[in-house]
Amino acid sequence: MSGVPLERSLAGHVPVMPEEVVRFFMSGGEPESMVDGTAGHGGHLAALLEALPGTRFIALDRDPDSCEHLRRRFEGHPGVTVRNSSFSKLPEVLLEIGISRAGAAFFDLGLSSSQLDDPSRGFSHSTEGPLDMRFDRGSGGVTAADIINRSSERQLADIFHRFGQERHSRAIARAVVRERPFELTTQLAFTISRCVRSHHVKTLSRIFQALRIAVNDELDELAKLLGTLAGVLAPGAPVAFLTFHSIEDRMVKLELRDSGSFIPGKPFFLRPSGAESVGNPRARSAMLRTGYRR
Ligand SMILES: C[S@@+](CC[C@H](N)C(=O)[O-])C[C@H]1O[C@@H](n2cnc3c(N)ncnc32)[C@H](O)[C@@H]1O
Repeated sequence: MSGVPLERSLAGHVPVMPEEVVRFFMSGGEPESMVDGTAGHGGHLAALLEALPGTRFIALDRDPDSCEHLRRRFEGHPGVTVRNSSFSKLPEVLLEIGISRAGAAFFDLGLSSSQLDDPSRGFSHSTEGPLDMRFDRGSGGVTAADIINRSSERQLADIFHRFGQERHSRAIARAVVRERPFELTTQLAFTISRCVRSHHVKTLSRIFQALRIAVNDELDELAKLLGTLAGVLAPGAPVAFLTFHSIEDRMVKLELRDSGSFIPGKPFFLRPSGAESVGNPRARSAMLRTGYRR
């Protein structure tokens, strides 16, 4: 359990592009079943539930705290089934529930503001907390501290470069190895900031993003999902992804456009309005990718 009471820690998430998401899924009629593979705080789910009242929703999240919140928020709603699972296990989850092919699917990648704002999760460079960053803390998987304190300088530089596209990756890796061990987010942030003269907040965000991706094996999880998604969707099923960085967006784009299993939506991508980007900083880098199962 997080160190912050659940209601408070989950209160702050504002869904990104909710109107565009709902409009896209409404345009195909009302599916019998729909997967929300990253249900998080349930913001999109609540909007979709209102727009598609006859649809059965399968809400997945890898984070047990998010699932606890979802169960409470949608308690007594017969149209929502919550499962604490990674979307990479979607075929197994649907099999267990008895759905052979879902009628629609939505994935809002990355992390929620509730997770980012909870210091005990260690996702944020601006608040002090343990270097954890696991979506599922019960999994026993590696933490950000494990990666930071045990990887070689070269491995760290690779992580910072590949997953954060950080041009100071080598210098930062060198400084980290010189000054480790680290236990706290703020200790690591201090070392990173000293390596770069300007734009250190952007560098901090990139390094923390890179660590989060590595800790949760996010690109492998996404690759597994993309490899099995077509097999669990009914012909014609609409599918949409909200992506937040170029690596995941490229993976989604290639699957929806070039795999032969999907027809790209028209438009193939949407960006948030200027007003939304001003009001919700998390929306700024968002890209809504759409397609249909062939
Ligand atoms: C951006 S938030 C979703 C917010 C949600 N759409 C809302 O409106 O409240 C992303 C969520 O995906 C979850 N997540 C990340 N990777 C996942 C994975 N591989 N499988 C399932 N959930 C995942 C995170 O725990 C987080 O709760």
